[in-house]
Amino acid sequence: MPANQVAFQTEVTVKNLQIAFEGESNAHAKYVEFAAKADADGLPGVASLFRAAARAEQIHAHNHARALHLMGSEAKARVHPIEVKSTLENLKSALAGEQHEVDVMYPEFLAEADARNNTAASRTLDWALEAEKTHARLYSEAITLLESNEADSWLYAVRNFYVCVVCGYTS
Ligand SMILES: [Fe+2]
Ligand SMILES: [Fe+2]
Repeated sequence: MPANQVAFQTEVTVKNLQIAFEGESNAHAKYVEFAAKADADGLPGVASLFRAAARAEQIHAHNHARALHLMGSEAKARVHPIEVKSTLENLKSALAGEQHEVDVMYPEFLAEADARNNTAASRTLDWALEAEKTHARLYSEAITLLESNEADSWLYAVRNFYVCVVCGYTS
């Protein structure tokens, strides 16, 4: 196979991984800020969730960077200024980001990497997709509880979340 054909087959996957790397890097930075705001708002359970998710996004970014490196590219990200609002609004913004990743971004990127047999990329994209599903579920649960004003919910106490250091799966 000519060298330019090989380059063509990884080009889109590399571009997608760069987008995903930038997304994960920004999500990590955003959730760290949102965690501090949740603590300030007297919602330590939400702060725990944001910190767990922030750690997961860091693992995803790291895994994407490793796949990029294997494909001969270096990960680069621009971290944008973060808009911190109320914790409810922050949760909604976080959920919108996760939902986009779960419904649009990762399924598309994963299908493309699968079609090109770029297995290192497929693996890191699939791990991220699965973790983002749990982030979306946990964020929507927190939004429902916060909107229903239940005083004895997990939002108001420090809560343990578990993050897989290999794939970022959060529970
Ligand atoms: Fe992620
Ligand atoms: Fe996530």
